[in-house]
Amino acid sequence: MWVEKYRPGNLEDYRGAKKEKKKLKEWAENWSQGDKSVLLHGQAGTGKTSMAEALAKDLDLELVETNASDVRTKKGLKSELKEATRQASFFGKNKLILVDEVDGMGRADRGGAAELKEIVSESRFPVIMTANDAYDSKIRDLKNMSIVIELGSVHTNSINAHLKEILENEGIEYDDRAVKMIARRAGGQMRSAINDLETVALGRDKLTKEDVKALDQRDSEQEIFDALKIIFKTTSLENARQASDNLDEDADTFMQWIRENVPREYKKSEDTAEAYEWVSKADLFNGRIRKRMSWSFLKYVYEFLTGGVALSKDEKYDGWTKYQYPSMIKKMGSSRASRNRLDSLTKKMGAELHISQREAKNSMPLYREIINSNEETIEKLGLKEKELELIKKF
Ligand SMILES: Nc1ncnc2c1ncn2[C@@H]1O[C@H](COP(=O)(O)OP(=O)(O)OP(=O)(O)O)[C@@H](O)[C@H]1O
Ligand SMILES: [Mg+2]
Repeated sequence: MWVEKYRPGNLEDYRGAKKEKKKLKEWAENWSQGDKSVLLHGQAGTGKTSMAEALAKDLDLELVETNASDVRTKKGLKSELKEATRQASFFGKNKLILVDEVDGMGRADRGGAAELKEIVSESRFPVIMTANDAYDSKIRDLKNMSIVIELGSVHTNSINAHLKEILENEGIEYDDRAVKMIARRAGGQMRSAINDLETVALGRDKLTKEDVKALDQRDSEQEIFDALKIIFKTTSLENARQASDNLDEDADTFMQWIRENVPREYKKSEDTAEAYEWVSKADLFNGRIRKRMSWSFLKYVYEFLTGGVALSKDEKYDGWTKYQYPSMIKKMGSSRASRNRLDSLTKKMGAELHISQREAKNSMPLYREIINSNEETIEKLGLKEKELELIKKF
């Protein structure tokens, strides 16, 4: 894994965070027993653990790492950590104690936090604690006894530079814009940037913008799957409503996903029927939006598709469901270009056959059959080769 392979070996390799690095280094160099500990906090993947590790390497300290969320029990904390904070290093070095993820101790573990406080304050060696959330009430006391250093999001330029170095090291050529796209979409999290890079670049000779676009596609699919899981599995209106909050998809696409997957999740016919009742209402409102441009209806569309569909079941169905692409989208691909192709085809068919475009769309499987069995139709409708291929995909 590239996140491991390219962990910064020292503070100089550690990108960005100049002030924070300096502050931390000065603290460690001047520390003597009784001085404050450090609480290093910031969102996941911003490089807290890496910074502590890099510091230890720079100052040639023996790093003793404990993870507070692993050694959850008081006993675990006591034995591992107390020992480490009291005994001299086997290697004749000074030590640096890292207690990772102190906010992950578990809610019930206030006792653990109290004990940690005692151990840290009596330590013979400097202690760095890390946390995602410095405002977690569990760790208030730990915070108060520490110098608090925040690692904000990593600057896009720092991420960008780091990604390029990785690519160069791996011997992969790259389009500058492609790398920049990955750096930007990481939202300041170095880890997720490196992971994204590995996903799209590993095994390639060259990284292009197209490769990166595949990531967006993957993300939006993941968002849809997450939303479906909430809607289908919850019986709470509140939860269901929130399911569509993070979606980028338009209402149409979202509706198709729901429509496709209702019967995969709901097994009782009453549940399925009721859910489809809501889908159908959503469709109706969605149509009104288009016809009258009344966007105020949009909230109902989502309300029906989330809350309506969720509450259609008597009780939640156990087990894991494999959600599927809506068949229509799957067949058309989800790009705008292919949607446009379908639109132009159905318009043409509609005009020839005196039916609406929508009707033409719905009857595609029928045309496929007709075309396969009757060559003449092709001529009569004046279809092009590309259009024929499109119909045959249904
Ligand atoms: N500033 C940085 N410069 C270079 N690489 C970095 C930097 N920050 C993070 N990384 C890379 O990102 C990975 C994740 O960083 P790290 O594990 O230190 O994050 P973290 O803040 O401890 O995350 P978590 O809260 O999940 O424990 C590291 O393995 C390293 O490869
Ligand atoms: Mg960490």
